[in-house]
Order: sequence, then structure tokens, then C-alpha cells
Amino acid sequence: MKLWGGRFTKEENQLVHNFNESLSFDRKLYRHDIEGSIAHVSMLARQGIVSEEDQEAITGGLRGILGDLESGSLVFTNEHEDIHSFVEAKLTERIGDAGKRLHTGRSRNDQVALDMKLYCRDEIDEIDTLVMALMKEILKIMEENLDTYMPGFTHLQKAQPVTLAHHMGAYFEMFYRDRTRLRDIRARMNYCPLGSGALAGTTYPLDRDYTSGLLGFDGPTLNSMDSVSDRDYVIELLSALSLISMHLSRFSEEVIIWNSNEYRFVELDDAYSTGSSIMPQKKNPDIAELVRGKTGRVYGALVSMLTTMKGIPLAYDKDMQEDKELTFDAIDTVKGCLALFTGMIASMSFRKDVMEASAKNGFTNATDAADYLVNHGVPFRDAHGIVGRLVLYCIEKDMALDDMTLEEFKAVSPVFEDDIYECISMKTCVEKRVTLGGPGRPAMERVIEICRERLKEDSAL
Ligand code: ARG
Repeated sequence: MKLWGGRFTKEENQLVHNFNESLSFDRKLYRHDIEGSIAHVSMLARQGIVSEEDQEAITGGLRGILGDLESGSLVFTNEHEDIHSFVEAKLTERIGDAGKRLHTGRSRNDQVALDMKLYCRDEIDEIDTLVMALMKEILKIMEENLDTYMPGFTHLQKAQPVTLAHHMGAYFEMFYRDRTRLRDIRARMNYCPLGSGALAGTTYPLDRDYTSGLLGFDGPTLNSMDSVSDRDYVIELLSALSLISMHLSRFSEEVIIWNSNEYRFVELDDAYSTGSSIMPQKKNPDIAELVRGKTGRVYGALVSMLTTMKGIPLAYDKDMQEDKELTFDAIDTVKGCLALFTGMIASMSFRKDVMEASAKNGFTNATDAADYLVNHGVPFRDAHGIVGRLVLYCIEKDMALDDMTLEEFKAVSPVFEDDIYECISMKTCVEKRVTLGGPGRPAMERVIEICRERLKEDSAL
């Protein structure tokens, strides 16, 4: 009985430890944890709270731990609860009592708040670079395809002709907004929580401005309770990541459609597509499908985090430990998607002839034919009816409006003259749309100029 009881207690304790620990995932924060501690101890010494010798020993010890973790000579062992306890334990093991002074005027609550902020800030910069790389590829396609005609769609029905440059420009705008969102979040979150203690600050004469400056923040946070319990920036970041994923997913969907046998607008590079184990003719757009598919887990992280935070009282509660795995996963997922997607579109080729033929076969110039009649005095409603009859005629004969003879045009309306061909040519249809934001060349050239400038913008502005 006694034996069993003792054994039970031990197992229970182990289960509690396993449930409570975060080292298995927050080890990802080791660089930021050490960076924060070095800044903290340098402030402690400056304020005379620890001696210079202790500061030197602590800083040296922390640098040693960092180096050994990077080289792999120091490994994480799971008896420690989290990254903060792990680093502190190793430090004390290495330098003795001085190591125990590091945590003066600090709590794991402000420490973890700092680590997460430092981590998210670095990741925002990396994601920004990846979005920018994608935008560069999009811009390249835009610059090369000002005259590549293709059907523009509404309801996935061919609507009016556009150019590939114009279509790509839509994605450039989306990803540009994504970058501005990242930039906004970065600016809003860039205040240092260190010095907030467990929740009510500390009795030591800390210089919070100093640590904040050392760590590249715009200033210290202003309420210690908010500082240790704020995860708004994580939620904002997950929201921005969700939007990036949504944009990537829509783009992926188009690549998948364009790659289908029915469309054949694009040819995926072999490196970015896969074959089927049974059907030899297949070239599957797996990468695009996976990018589309992974959107679900990024949205999941956002909803998860919103739900975790919604009912917890001030200030720190352990619930917040749940922020890590899902944030890490969402960030890694989006970074992977961005890198792969960029490689995929950079190596993808466009079948310009197929695109143009598709625009031509889809009566995308029907509106322009109606406009022609209107410009010759026919009321718009009548013009709409006349062109509708022409379209019906062409469908029966299996041809495009441009392929009709002038007699055939005139049989439906005598208003048509020889200049109708020029007027409904793909080139004219696009070139006439020159208001800013439209596909016509002068409008697109102006926009491309602006896009080039936007790519020079720095995320940290
Ligand atoms: N592992 C914890 C987290 O991720 C660190 C903070 C622990 N604080 C505490 N009072 N138990 O949130």
C-alpha cells in the first residue's frame, strides 16, 4: 500500500510537470531570453543593484550558454519547467551565486512578455522580407506582361479583357497592404514590458528607459499589469498572418485553376509540381494546394488565441502559456508558404497565346461592341440587345465576334462599319481603359512606377 502510494504520488507529480512545463516549446525563445537578461543585468549594474563583477560574470555566463546552445554542446533537459528556469539554472551551475542575482527586480511574467515581444518583432521583420521577395517576383511579372491579354473574370465567368500585368497588380496591392499591417503592428507593440515585475512593478530603482533603449524599443510600457498580461500584439500578428494566408490561398487557387487541363494558362516548373503514383499523365500543383490548405491552421491559431484570452482576469494567468505553440506554428507555416509560393511563381511560365485566345473566345469584348453602337447613337439598351444577338449567332457558329464578316455584323445592325474590328480588338479594349487602376498601358505604367517605390519602403519605418 505504502509502496503503491509513494509510486502514485511520483507519477502524479510527473504528470503535473509534463502538463505544466513549456521548455519543450519555449526553448525556441532562448536567444531572446538571453538577450533580455543581458540588458536587464547591465541596467542592474548601472543602477548599483548588482556589482560590476557580478554583471561581468553573469554576462559572460549567459554568452557562454548562448554559444553552447548554438553549437549543440549544451542541450535542453526536461527537468526544467521553462526556458527562463533553464537558463537561470545553467547560469548558476556555471558561475555560482552571482547567477542567482540575475533575477533581481524581475519576474518570469515580465520576462516572458519581453521574450515573446522580442521574438515576434524579429519574426515580423523576417516575414516582411519574405513578403517583399514575393512582391518583387509579382512586379517582375507585371513589368514583362503589360501587353499579355487575358480574360478578367467575375463569377469565374469571362467578363472583360485585362492583362496579366493588371491581374498580378491586384496581388501586389494585397501583399502591400499586408506589409503595412506588419509595420503598424510592429510600431504599436514596440514598447518594453521589462521592469513590470510579476504585476505591480518592483521596489528596486530600475531604469526602465535604459533597458528599453538597449533592446531597441521606443520606450517602456506604462502599466505593469497590462504589460504582463497583454497579448494583443500576438493576436494582431496572427490576424495579419491570417490575411497573408488568405491572399496566398486565393492566389494558389488561381494557379491551380490556371494549371488545369481546361485552362492551361500556366506551366508549373517540375520542381514545384508532383506526379501521380498511378496516373502517368498527371502534373499536380501540390505546392499551391498545400499553401491553400495550410490557411486553415493559421486561422485556427488566431481563433484559438482570441478564445484563450477572452475570459482571463488581470494580470498574468498561466493560460497565456498557450500563446506559444500556436504562434510559433502559424509563423513557421506562413514563412514556409511565402518562400515556397515565391519560388513557385518565379519558376512558373505563362502560356500567353492560350490566355489571349481564351479572352478572345469568351466574348470579353462584348461590352466594347455595345459601346461602339452607343457611340454611334444607338441607345444603350438597344445596343445591349443587338450585341446579345451577335453573341448568340457566334455561339451557334462557334466563333468569336472578331471573326464575323462585316455583312454578318450589318445583318444584325446596319450601324456597324469597318472600324468595328479595330474597336473590339483585344488591344483596343485594354488600351481604352486608362483611368488609374485600369489595365491600359499608361495607367499600368504609372502604377508600376509606384510599386517600384513601394518596394523600397522599410518595414521598420
Ligand atoms: N512558461 C510561462 C509562460 O509561457 C512563463 C511565465 C511563468 N510565470 C508564472 N508565474 N508561472 O507563460
